[in-house]
Amino acid sequence: MGNVRRRFYFFMKKPAAQLKEKAKGKYDKLDTVLEKYKGRGGVLVKVLQEAQEMYGHLPRELLIHVAYELDVPLSEVYSVVSFYSLFRTKTTGRIHLEVCSGTACYVKGMEDLLEYFRENLSLRPGGITDDEKYSLTTSNCMGVCSSAPVIKIGGELHGEMTLEKLQQLLKEHENDKQTQR
Ligand code: FES
Repeated sequence: MGNVRRRFYFFMKKPAAQLKEKAKGKYDKLDTVLEKYKGRGGVLVKVLQEAQEMYGHLPRELLIHVAYELDVPLSEVYSVVSFYSLFRTKTTGRIHLEVCSGTACYVKGMEDLLEYFRENLSLRPGGITDDEKYSLTTSNCMGVCSSAPVIKIGGELHGEMTLEKLQQLLKEHENDKQTQR
């Protein structure tokens, strides 16, 4: 067992076997990816990206598994996950909302959009509604500052957002989802 792993399990206060047992069979697909990258440096972001594509988000248990298998400190895994806004540690709602919090969007009123979600859906960044219909995150600049404020709904960018436009868009997405069922 590597040094990092030894310290890792001391920190976790759980025996290695117990943690390994818990993850057994759960991340078989991910294990194939981990095998490919094991022993190579600078692969953490790539592994986490592939893990998120497979599982939709990165729960704590999965992060522990990655840290163990790559023999890197769990704190390093967490700092990568929190540094890159593309990573999600919670599951997303059926309609995922991403509000740009870059400078231009901030100046042009992204706070009003966040307040709308807070007031009307009891939804804060990083959260999900009780019925799992909506989830919300903020992100760094989305690269279209001239259209600020910008929001991404279901992976699609919408610029020059106003509360009226936002309400309309949410209605449209809701109808789409209903017709898809
Ligand atoms: S700051 Fe929002 S798109 Fe650039």
